[in-house]
Amino acid sequence: MAINFLLNEQPVSVDVDPAMPLLWVVREKLGLTGTKFGCGIAACGACTMHVDGTATRTCMLPVSSVAGAQIRTIEALATDGALNAVQQAWLEHQVPQCGYCQSGMIMAAEALLNETPDPTDADIDAAITNICRCGIYDRVRAAVHRAAQLRKEG
Ligand code: FES
Ligand code: FES
Repeated sequence: MAINFLLNEQPVSVDVDPAMPLLWVVREKLGLTGTKFGCGIAACGACTMHVDGTATRTCMLPVSSVAGAQIRTIEALATDGALNAVQQAWLEHQVPQCGYCQSGMIMAAEALLNETPDPTDADIDAAITNICRCGIYDRVRAAVHRAAQLRKEG
């Protein structure tokens, strides 16, 4: 049975097991591999995408549950090769260490800033619960503040 949704503003239709997690549909069937697999139990956040604007862990999310939804992935953040504010701030603060968790972190940060344009450290800690085994949480906080500033500057 075909399941339809919007992926980065493009309509897509996939004929897969409805129970297949969205992460694997996007990576394996639709070829966007920017979103990573970490734990597979919705605990680490590596697989975070936006589902109708909400940061969502997709490794346990059946694709059938996103029929008709708007899905946004890390691939959609830059426009014509120009980094968006979060990506620019991440670069300025050299946030990643190994980088594995970063796609999910960035998508969580992007969703937070869409909801809360000027978050406090407490807001950041509450909203970005992604796990980083390299422990770069201080740089994440600094970069989110910088991204908020860049967004204000337009
Ligand atoms: S891979 Fe989905 S939360 Fe860890
Ligand atoms: S940068 Fe290595 S896991 Fe986060």
